[in-house]
Amino acid sequence: MMWRALFTFLLLDSVCTQKGSSKESKGHVSVVIVGGTGDLARKYLWQSFFQLYADQVSSGYSFSFYGGGLSEAAKGKPKFFQILKSLACSSEVSEERCALLKEQFLKLAQYQQLNTTEDYENLAGDIRQRLENEELAEAGRLFYLAVPASTYADIAEKISRSCRPGQGQWLRVALEKPFGHDLDSAEQLATLLKKSLHEDEMFRIDHYLGKQVVSQILPFRKDNKNFLDPIWNKHHIERMEIVLKETLDVKGRAQFYDQYGVIRDVLQNHLTEILLLLTMGVPANMSNSDEIVNKKLQVFSSLKDIDRTSAVIGQYQAYNSEVQEELNRTKEHISNTPTFAGVVVLVRNTQFDGVPIFLTSGKMLDEQVAYARILFKNEVFSVRNSSSLRCSPKQIVFLLRHGILQRSAILVSKNLFKPTVSDDGWKEVTGERDTALFGLPLSGYYIYMPTFQREAYESVVSQIFHGRKDSIIRVETMLASWAFWTPLLHSLAQQAPRIYPGGTDTENLLDFQRQGRKIAFTNEAVILSSRDFVGGSATAENFQVMRGKYRDSDMVSAWPEELIDRLAADLQAAAEEAVEGGGVFHLALSGGSSPVALFQRLAVHHYSFPWQQTHIWMVDERCVPLSEPGSNFHALHENLLQHVRLPYFNIHPMPVHLNRRLCVEEDGGPLLYENDISRLVNGSSFHFVLLGVGYDGHTASLFQSTQLDTHAYKLVVLTESPAKPHQRMSLTLAAINQAQRVGVLVTGKSKHEMIIQLSRIKDDPQKWPITGVRPTGGKLVWYIDYDALLG
Ligand code: BG6
Repeated sequence: MMWRALFTFLLLDSVCTQKGSSKESKGHVSVVIVGGTGDLARKYLWQSFFQLYADQVSSGYSFSFYGGGLSEAAKGKPKFFQILKSLACSSEVSEERCALLKEQFLKLAQYQQLNTTEDYENLAGDIRQRLENEELAEAGRLFYLAVPASTYADIAEKISRSCRPGQGQWLRVALEKPFGHDLDSAEQLATLLKKSLHEDEMFRIDHYLGKQVVSQILPFRKDNKNFLDPIWNKHHIERMEIVLKETLDVKGRAQFYDQYGVIRDVLQNHLTEILLLLTMGVPANMSNSDEIVNKKLQVFSSLKDIDRTSAVIGQYQAYNSEVQEELNRTKEHISNTPTFAGVVVLVRNTQFDGVPIFLTSGKMLDEQVAYARILFKNEVFSVRNSSSLRCSPKQIVFLLRHGILQRSAILVSKNLFKPTVSDDGWKEVTGERDTALFGLPLSGYYIYMPTFQREAYESVVSQIFHGRKDSIIRVETMLASWAFWTPLLHSLAQQAPRIYPGGTDTENLLDFQRQGRKIAFTNEAVILSSRDFVGGSATAENFQVMRGKYRDSDMVSAWPEELIDRLAADLQAAAEEAVEGGGVFHLALSGGSSPVALFQRLAVHHYSFPWQQTHIWMVDERCVPLSEPGSNFHALHENLLQHVRLPYFNIHPMPVHLNRRLCVEEDGGPLLYENDISRLVNGSSFHFVLLGVGYDGHTASLFQSTQLDTHAYKLVVLTESPAKPHQRMSLTLAAINQAQRVGVLVTGKSKHEMIIQLSRIKDDPQKWPITGVRPTGGKLVWYIDYDALLG
């Protein structure tokens, strides 16, 4: 096997990897990625190990790389080499050198099935064989576990049993977060791992600590001690924000994500680590990991406990269907896993007492950005020019991910101080495009950036290789973090997250605000007009029936019974008015469960209702025989029609059952109904249309999938529902919007999130059919009970 060395030596002087290089050998390192064909390995790890190889190739070390996977070689190997093919060199490496590095790396890499104990024994045998054949002295073995944490203990045991190197050579095992699910499971995992590995062999990774900006927080605080010491405290800091916003969904990761959710995935680890770096005492010796751990533990011990009032949670709208699809679950499976969270954390010490620290993260948000922002109080009032820099926000921003600059950076507003960054790898930049960032043009900041932008995993891998632990998670802080987060996680377990549409449609639906140690979403569903609430706050306890505005239309809200009373009274008033005006009242009623209570109320309490002059029409119908319980007409009949004295020729069920078949296009059911409407209803304009809204924003039988734009000039159409029975007949938006009055009835807690969401979005009928209900000459009133309105 000496050809490897010869090949290398001849081809490229500096790419010397194995024994025989011109440099003195420092020994051989075997790198094994367990989960070597998985997502993390594909996206980051192989690229980082390739970078390590490129950095170390002329340093005297030699390497071999193993991609470990559960599949047998025939399946795993092609996948593995497919990943390696896409490796890239950093921009300063010439094309020629890059090609050689890649070629050499591919020669040093091999796929290895790693499943059973025997597989690990085979791996160890292979490493031994290679060392012997090539007469290499061993430096150590690095295992990177890029697999679910539930498999760590078992794998660690196999590594310890079969793959330990000899005396004097190191073993390093890198473990990816999350380390457990809550405090108990984290403790259990720590105990199990301790049985196989020594603490100094374990490298718990939080790749955020490998981000250039994050690793610069403490040095920055130290370099600028003179400026910061007087202002890094509650007297000067207004608040801190630690934010990770993502535009991605969780497709392809639902199996993992649904068990963890955003708090466990990123707040408990990445964002907490940043919080610690901002609030801990600056260690005298930056590379003393004991000192760093002690300072971090001091912060944990002064954090105020958090509970469900300290947090708001959300979930993007498409999440449940993604989970159902990926995990093969039925439509009834509803996951409450949050994909968004905002949490306020308070540090109870003399330095920071009362300074709110907001931790926020979410998937499917409007932009891809991560930062820590320290906003200082600014009480300057400039008499000459209130928009001068002196009056602008005073802030320091650690921009860790993309954002407006497209690169990571540290920004200090010029009204604070000119910072020093002593690290050679950083430089001050000027002349950036002058856009604004956090209320200040970029020209209003001193901006520092790394000379080379480096992926976090590259630096993490390099640290593990060098056996450095300064930015690796120690068991003590890992457990302290779980101890802090677990009570909140448990208290949120049953809480339904606020549903948000995702992307820019979310608008300000997820904004939250603080009151003391609590936070809440700023926007509840409705904008209530103050004149209706003189002398009290707008809560359900204070009002039997309240009126306000919802989506720019009138809204009536009350407890369910009162709401139904009110709606029934409004219906009767509309009926009396119509009968008085033209001798007839045309009422179109929808199906579903919401109006049942109304029907019952009308049946029992409204003897004086002008039933004799009332025509009852259907808003929509399911394509089932009218005598079946699933039929909307059947429910109407059971709950109302059979109890009131209505002439039978005034009753107009939808003709879904013609020629002994259901909703067949050629039978022309919609046209028949449309003709009846045109013939009997003046101007086809119903006096009152009663609608409901589904969780997905459908109304009548108009769904997201219904091609609304094909309905022009039609009053009645056949549609397809995503739920059974799929076939439906429905009034069109055109028919509904011609009505003189439209009532939308929404009841029950389960509709709360939908009501909040609807309150924030613009009209988009194709996505939210209910938002297409805008009577052209008539009036729209929302009837929403307190459960649906206030949750
Ligand atoms: C990971 C989380 O740890 O961090 C992901 O599991 C998240 O859900 C990612 O997307 C964010 O990291 P980065 O480096 O892309 O900001």
